Amino acid sequence: MARITAGVGSSHVPAIGVAMDTGKTGEPYWQPVFAGYEASRAWMKEQDPDVIFLVYNDHCTAFSAEVIPTFALGCAAEFEPADEGWGPRPVPVVKGHPKLASHIAQSVILDEFDLTIMNQMEVDHGLTVPLSLMYGEVDAWPAQVIPLCVNVVQYPPPTGNRCYNLGKAVRKAFESYEDDLKVVVFGTGGMSHQLQAQRAGLINPEFDTRFLDLLTEDPVAGSQISHVEYLRESGSEGIEMVMWYVMRGALNDNVREVHRHYHIPASNTAVGHIILENV
Ligand code: DHB
Ligand code: FE
Repeated sequence: MARITAGVGSSHVPAIGVAMDTGKTGEPYWQPVFAGYEASRAWMKEQDPDVIFLVYNDHCTAFSAEVIPTFALGCAAEFEPADEGWGPRPVPVVKGHPKLASHIAQSVILDEFDLTIMNQMEVDHGLTVPLSLMYGEVDAWPAQVIPLCVNVVQYPPPTGNRCYNLGKAVRKAFESYEDDLKVVVFGTGGMSHQLQAQRAGLINPEFDTRFLDLLTEDPVAGSQISHVEYLRESGSEGIEMVMWYVMRGALNDNVREVHRHYHIPASNTAVGHIILENV
């Protein structure tokens, strides 16, 4: 069986990737952002998972506006970092796990969650920045990665409730896998931010803190946060946070919060990060 030991939530701000790739992590602006991930990198080394199930969103990179799947599962053997306009990030190719990903597709689709199967997919900062934050600069990613790409760029995105229940189906899929593997699930995106129009620059630390508290302590209530509430309280791009509920649904009802980091600013948003261990 593949066993999920923990969940990681993390922002995926693209400028964090640029700061790492251009050697700026020690600058006064960035130092406090990265300081909050030092303990996480040590934790990650200790966990040393075989597989990361990484829930993220594409930002019109792999998918143009022509085709936008709600949930797309990466079943390929590898995923190339995408060119996001400045060339692909200089990070290792992401190695997948086609056998396990196909098993998850089989289990989850027969559980009536209609995933899109991706046999080829490029991955953008939504996926590579959280990996960089948790592993630092590496020659090869130490774990195989199964990406789950969620639509949060065009309405209607899935609800938090749908994401939470999908996480439960994903957990069931891992638990029925034939090989013994250790799995950590990442939920990425957020925190509150709005990149456009009149409310551009919006950051709401009270909402973000409540979101993180509910995620740990009362995920059933947190999964019920509505689209309108995300939009009103966390800005138009805050809806990315529904993806953290796939991660939460894949964990036990009771979890131990072993690390939290929250810092403003990082580009146009707050950086939010949490580590939850199954108890
Ligand atoms: C920013 C944050 C994001 O999550 C993103 O996908 C793009 C930009 C930002 O803060 O600039
Ligand atoms: Fe984003």
